[in-house]
Amino acid sequence: MSETNDRQWRWDAEYWDELYLSRDSVWSGRPNRVLVEETAGLEPGRALDVGAGEGADAVWLARQGWKVTAADVSRVALDRAAGHAAAAGGGIAGAIDWWRVDLLETAPDPAGYDLVSAFFFHLEPGPRAEVLERLAAAVAPGGTLLFVGHDPAQVEQVEGDRPPLEMFFTAEEIAAGLDPAAWEVVTAEKRPRPPAAGGAGHAHTADVVLRARRR
Ligand SMILES: C[S@@+](CC[C@H](N)C(=O)[O-])C[C@H]1O[C@@H](n2cnc3c(N)ncnc32)[C@H](O)[C@@H]1O
Repeated sequence: MSETNDRQWRWDAEYWDELYLSRDSVWSGRPNRVLVEETAGLEPGRALDVGAGEGADAVWLARQGWKVTAADVSRVALDRAAGHAAAAGGGIAGAIDWWRVDLLETAPDPAGYDLVSAFFFHLEPGPRAEVLERLAAAVAPGGTLLFVGHDPAQVEQVEGDRPPLEMFFTAEEIAAGLDPAAWEVVTAEKRPRPPAAGGAGHAHTADVVLRARRR
């Protein structure tokens, strides 16, 4: 499976729980810049944050007035995220539901959300297509799908131990999975990101960004 070595890359609940248990914080603790940029003009409603991790995006969305469902397969991550939400005060915690779920197995409510955001939710191509279909179905008419990943061209340059390249996608590949009759693609691009201080994702210097609006 891997192009770089024979190691089995299995990103299941056990993998994620172990990663989160290995450090007090894995990510930067700040909301993803693209989330802030792309949701700036949206009317807050119901949001599903897919692979919410330590909750920085969910907390930020709640602060903007969204009613958030933060979904993640890792109980450790969700407990930590809930702690951050409680510490944020201001009723933030009350605006977020924490949903422990394997989204490879369980679909969110169809048309249940005005925003479905997935940041760095990297899966193999088959499961990715299935999950994308279910996430797209979870967006209500008029709502937004925001699907963001690490730039595969940059990942390809990494020497040595790295996940298989097929787990990374371009914005165009995600856009191609959406029916043009049902979706208006607003943004499909690679976007440079400034080097972040701290967090496991700090070495990545570009995001691929797909934003689409359900007709
Ligand atoms: C790379 S992290 C990104 C975390 C967060 N979105 C961020 O940008 O900081 C991917 C997250 O997806 C979660 N995840 C992976 N596979 C999942 C699945 N099948 N169902 C639900 N969550 C999953 C992991 O536990 C992890 O927290």
